[in-house]
Amino acid sequence: MTDTDDLKRQAALAALEHVTNGMKLGIGTGSTAVHLVRGLGERVRGGLHIVGVPTSERTAKLAREEGIPLTTLDETPHLDLTIDGADELDRSLQLIKGGGGALLREKIVAAASDRMIVIADGSKLVDRLGAFPLPIEVNHFGFGATLHAIEAAAHRLGQQVTLKRRLAADGAPFVTDGGHAIVDASFGLIREPEAMSLALAAIPGVVEHGLFIGLATAAVIARPDGVVWLGA
Ligand code: A5P
Repeated sequence: MTDTDDLKRQAALAALEHVTNGMKLGIGTGSTAVHLVRGLGERVRGGLHIVGVPTSERTAKLAREEGIPLTTLDETPHLDLTIDGADELDRSLQLIKGGGGALLREKIVAAASDRMIVIADGSKLVDRLGAFPLPIEVNHFGFGATLHAIEAAAHRLGQQVTLKRRLAADGAPFVTDGGHAIVDASFGLIREPEAMSLALAAIPGVVEHGLFIGLATAAVIARPDGVVWLGA
């Protein structure tokens, strides 16, 4: 395990301490969330009773392998807690997510939860969001027009943006669990995350974007000198 991976594991295990019997849990996606799923599996095998809603097919597969009971938001529309990673977070608990392409389900699950704990290694905590390109999930229909609309929205907010369609490992266009494309939007810095979030959400071809504003209620950040909580 690399040092960073060990920090991810520490963050995941610290958040796991907040999981108690009977909880309905949103289960995140990504390399940090993998540690969460493994830890959760261990606790379930030790007698913990929870039910989880996975935020991606990848997480669902791992959770099944770990023996974690799963449900859906159709059966269980209201969750107690979601624990998920992030690509960037600031001290106001605004996030960029979607580096793994799961942002749509992640946002739906987080919005259905009373609380959301972000788990991250210290490198994810930034003063201002935007160094990490913002993932935007885009419908295939009208793809070119949607890209123009994203550029125009950024310009109206006084921001330059470079858009790049995400490709899968085999070089083919990346396709999300929902069957859409992902465009990674490099702003350098997002000056007004909330305004940007609203502007992007207003574009019809944008299915969802990776700015999570007002969803996270706490974050656990693992650094080499220890674990710190924000917002708890
Ligand atoms: C998945 O789409 C993402 O939102 C992840 O939660 C985020 O990219 C963090 O992933 P890592 O834990 O792998 O850094």
